[in-house]
Amino acid sequence: MLKRVLSYAHELLQSSIQPGETVIDGTCGNGKDTIVLSKLVGDSGQVLAFDVQEQAIENTKQRLAEEKISNVKLIHDSHENAETYLPEEVYGFVGGAIFNLGYLPGSDKSVITKPTSTIQAVDTIVKYLKSGGLIILVVYYGHEGGEAEKNALLDHLRSFEQKNYNVLQYGFINQKNSPPFILAIEKK
Ligand SMILES: C[S@@+](CC[C@H](N)C(=O)[O-])C[C@H]1O[C@@H](n2cnc3c(N)ncnc32)[C@H](O)[C@@H]1O
Repeated sequence: MLKRVLSYAHELLQSSIQPGETVIDGTCGNGKDTIVLSKLVGDSGQVLAFDVQEQAIENTKQRLAEEKISNVKLIHDSHENAETYLPEEVYGFVGGAIFNLGYLPGSDKSVITKPTSTIQAVDTIVKYLKSGGLIILVVYYGHEGGEAEKNALLDHLRSFEQKNYNVLQYGFINQKNSPPFILAIEKK
């Protein structure tokens, strides 16, 4: 059976992240992926979870408290500044990262991820990624500005050297309403 996009994204993370690692949620939103990452790395690991919206940070904080999770560092800043928050000792050891692009469901649709900052974040995190680690981008593009981000990302990732990275696109091509698809970058 074909895997649905979101469950495939989580399966990919599960297949590559190990307990004890530092991992990144580039867009924590309501915290769903943050919780998935937190469980994968366990108490000896750490999740750095970014969002530019106060509301997203608060929503995630609440969900983490409900789940009694304490291995997450919430960062109220743009993911393009990831390097400021990544300790030097995790260079080459970051276990993985996920980004859900677009806007926070049930919130202000004018706050969206943008091509330049998303690409900057990917370029930074890929340097810190372990060999065999994955960056997963779940690309929502049906909103205003979404198409431009999608195209910029595809163009950028097509230029990643095949000898250093595998870049996968996974999604359904016969669904209505611009369904999300996955872009996954694997560092060789
Ligand atoms: C689709 S939502 C994320 C949903 C989230 N993964 C969840 O499970 O609920 C996208 C999020 O990206 C955030 N965002 C937009 N630009 C950002 C940036 N430059 N850095 C970090 N977060 C950003 C938005 O505030 C929004 O919460």
